[in-house]
Amino acid sequence: MDQDFDALMFQTGAVFTPGAPINERELFSGRKDQVLKIVEAVSQRGCHAILYGERGTGKTSLSNMITAFLARRQAFVVSRTNCDISDTYSSLWAKAFKDIEAAKRRPDIGFGGLRNPLTAPPQDYALNSDTPDGVRRTLQGIAATAALIVIFDEFDRIRRPDAITAMADTIKALSDHAVNATVLLIGVADSVDELIREHQSIERALIQVHMPAMSDGEIRGIVMSGFERLAMEIEFEACEDLVQYSQGAPYITHLLSIYSARAALGARSMIVCAEHVEAGMIRALDQWQQSVKSLYDDAVRRARNPALHRDVLLACALADVDEQRYFVAGAVGAPLSAIRDRDVAPLTSARVLKDLSEPGTGQILHRAGEGARRRYRLFNPILRPYIIMRNVRDKRIAKDVLHRRSASRAEANDPDWTDASTF
Ligand SMILES: Nc1ncnc2c1ncn2[C@@H]1O[C@H](COP(=O)(O)OP(=O)(O)OP(=O)(O)O)[C@@H](O)[C@H]1O
Ligand SMILES: [Mg+2]
Repeated sequence: MDQDFDALMFQTGAVFTPGAPINERELFSGRKDQVLKIVEAVSQRGCHAILYGERGTGKTSLSNMITAFLARRQAFVVSRTNCDISDTYSSLWAKAFKDIEAAKRRPDIGFGGLRNPLTAPPQDYALNSDTPDGVRRTLQGIAATAALIVIFDEFDRIRRPDAITAMADTIKALSDHAVNATVLLIGVADSVDELIREHQSIERALIQVHMPAMSDGEIRGIVMSGFERLAMEIEFEACEDLVQYSQGAPYITHLLSIYSARAALGARSMIVCAEHVEAGMIRALDQWQQSVKSLYDDAVRRARNPALHRDVLLACALADVDEQRYFVAGAVGAPLSAIRDRDVAPLTSARVLKDLSEPGTGQILHRAGEGARRRYRLFNPILRPYIIMRNVRDKRIAKDVLHRRSASRAEANDPDWTDASTF
C-alpha cells in the first residue's frame, strides 16, 4: 500500500504541471469560446488569428489543444515557433520553415499523412523567408499538399518594429491570395494594439481572441479532472477553497493542487479535504516568487498606516474586476467593510489607493484613466491570489468571506467544462 502512495506522490507532478502548458485533452479545462474562434479562423481560408492575454492565462496550452484537435480531423502540418528578442522577420520564418520541413519527414503527421489522396501532388518550392512576398509564395507552394498552421508564440518578445510590420504584410498577402495556411500569433498583451499596431490594415483577416482569467467553473474543471486522473477524491469544501485561492489563475491551481494532493497522500489519505488544501496553501506561499513577496511586503511596510494599507490591498485583491483585471475605487468599499467589519469612508480608501499607486518604492497598483474613468489594478496577476492566501493564512480574513463574495458574483456565463463536444 505504501508503495502506491509513493508512486502517486510522484505522479502528482505529471498531472498538475504549474511549470508547463497542458498537452492533453483530458486535463484541459474550459476555454470553449476561445477554441471556437480559433477553429473558425483555421477553417476559413484567408483568415488568421491572434491570441492575447496576460501572462500564464493558458495561451500556449490552448494552442496545443487546438492543433492536436485539428490534426486528428484533417492533415494539418503545424509549425510552432517561439519568438525571442533577437529575432528578425527572416529568422522567424526560417525557424517556421525548418519545422515544416521536419514535418515532411514524418509521414504520420505530415504530407504523407494526407487523408485525401486527390489533393494536388507535391510541388517544388524554394524556401524564401526574407520578404512577405517570398514567404507567401513559399507557403503557397507547401500548402498545395497540406493545410498549414503556423504558430508564433511569445510574439510580444519581438523587439524589431520592422519584423512586426512585415508580419502584418504577410498576413495581408496570405489573405489576399487565399493561401491554405493559417497564421496564429500568440503574445502577452492587454490589447491587440500592443502586439501589432498595424492590425487595422488586416482587421478583416485577423480574428482577435482575448484570453481572460479563468472562470471559477474552469478552475474547478482543472481540479476535478486532475484528481480524477490520480484516482483521488476531493471534498466539496476543499475544492471550493482551491477555486477561491486560485483567483482565475490556472498556474496557481496546479501549484496548490500538487501540494494539497501531497499533503493528503503524506497523511495516507486518498481523499483531499480542507485541511490538506490549507497545508498545501501554506507550502505554496513559502515557495512563492520572491519578487511578488517583496512587492507586497514593501507596499505594506512603507505605509503610514500599515494595517489600513494591508486591508485596502486585501480589498483590492477581492474587488470585482473587468476583463483586464482593472477595478474602480468604489469596488473596494464592500470588501473593505467586510474585512474591517465596519464601514470605511470612501475618501480614506481613495487616499490609500492613491498612495499604493504612486510611482516609487512600494508602488503595487497600476493606475489608469483620469477622473471618473480612473481604474486600478494590481501590478502582477499573481498578486491577487498571493494577497488573499497570505491573509487567510494569517487569519485576517475568514474563508467564508471569500466564498460569500464568490457566490454573489454572477456565474451565469460559466462554461460547462465537462462538455467535450467542441473537441
Ligand atoms: N485550460 C487549461 N486547463 C488546465 N490547465 C491549464 C489550462 N490553461 C492553462 N493551464 C495551466 O496553466 C499554466 C499556464 O499555462 P500556459 O503556459 O499555457 O499559459 P500561457 O498563457 O502560455 O503563459 P505565458 O504567458 O507565460 O506564455 C500551466 O501550468 C498550464 O498547465
Ligand atoms: Mg505561453
